Amino acid sequence: MAPAILSLLQIGLLQAALLQGTAAKSGERRITNIFEPFATPAAAERDIGLFVMLITAAIFVAVCALLISTMIRFRRKPEDDERQEPPQVYGSNQIEIAWTFIPLLIIFVLIGVTARVIAVVQGANPGPAPVRARIIGHQWWFEVQFPELGVATANEIHVPVAGSSGPATMFQLESVDVIHSFWVPQLAGKLDMVPNRANTLWIDPTEPGTYLGNCAEYCGTQHANMLLRVTVEPKDEFLAWAAAQKASINVNTQDVEGRQVFESLSCVNCHAVRGTPANGKFGPDLTHVGSRQTIASGMIPNTPQNLRAWVNDAQEMKPGVLMPNMKLTKQELDSVVSYLVSLK
Ligand code: CUA
Repeated sequence: MAPAILSLLQIGLLQAALLQGTAAKSGERRITNIFEPFATPAAAERDIGLFVMLITAAIFVAVCALLISTMIRFRRKPEDDERQEPPQVYGSNQIEIAWTFIPLLIIFVLIGVTARVIAVVQGANPGPAPVRARIIGHQWWFEVQFPELGVATANEIHVPVAGSSGPATMFQLESVDVIHSFWVPQLAGKLDMVPNRANTLWIDPTEPGTYLGNCAEYCGTQHANMLLRVTVEPKDEFLAWAAAQKASINVNTQDVEGRQVFESLSCVNCHAVRGTPANGKFGPDLTHVGSRQTIASGMIPNTPQNLRAWVNDAQEMKPGVLMPNMKLTKQELDSVVSYLVSLK
C-alpha cells in the first residue's frame, strides 16, 4: 500500500512538474481555490460553504470544550473510594429534548440555506444571449461543442469574460457512458454529467485567465486524469478562437504525406479531422489538436515528444484508456505525429 501511494505521489509530482511548462503561460491559475471564486455561482457556493463551516466549527468547539471540561472535572482524584461506583444517573427529559431538538434545528437551517442557494443559482437568469456549449463526458475526456459557433474540440474550453463586455456562458452537461462530474472550482460548483440526461450550469467569469478543473465523480481507472481547462478571455479573443476552431483544415497547407498515412490507418474510425475523410466520432476531434496546450485530457503538455509517446502507446501513459496501441512502425509514427502537430 505504502509504495503504491508513494508512486502515485511521484506521478502527481511529475505531472505537476511537466505541466509547469505550460503553466508559465500568463494567467493560468495553478491552485484551484474554492475560496477565491471568479464567477457568481462559485461566489454563492463559497459563501454558503463558509456559513456551514462556521456552524460546524462552533459545534466542534462546543463539543471539545464540554469533553475537556468533563475530563478535568471528573478525573480520578486521590480521595476517591475505588470500591464505590460513581452516582448512576438515568435519563433526563430536559437534556434529551435539548439534544434532539437543537441538532434538528441546525439541520433544518442548513437544509434551508442550501436549498435557497441552489434555487438562486439554478434559477438565475444568466443574461441575454449567453454563449452555449455542450460538454460531454467520456471515459476519460471531455468532448466540447459550441453548436451555435460550429466549434468541436476536447478538454480545453474557451469562454468570454462576462459582464458589461460579454455574455455569460451556459453549459449543457451530458455523458455517453458513465456518470462524470464537471468541476471548475473557481467558476462553479460541481455538477454531475449523467447518461441520457442534460444538466445545465452557467458561469459569468469576471477575470481573464485559465481555470483548471477536473472530473469530480469516480468514473473508472483514469478518473484522476480527466482534467479540463477553461480559458476566460475578452470577447473578441474568444470569437477569434471560435472562428479558428470552426474552420476546417486547409488540406493543402497541412503535412500531406502525414495526412495520407493517418488516413490509411484505423485512426480515422475514432477521430475526426473536419474537412478530410476522417470523421470518427468515438474519440476527440483532432481538427485543431495542434493548437491545444495539453493532450490526454489535460494530463501532459502538447509537445511533439509527448504526442509521439502518446500515439506510440497510449496504454503505457494512461493505462486503461480506450485508445489501443496501434503498433505503428517508426515511419508511420513519424508521419502521424508530424501531421497532428501541423493541425493548428
Ligand atoms: Cu469522469 Cu471521473
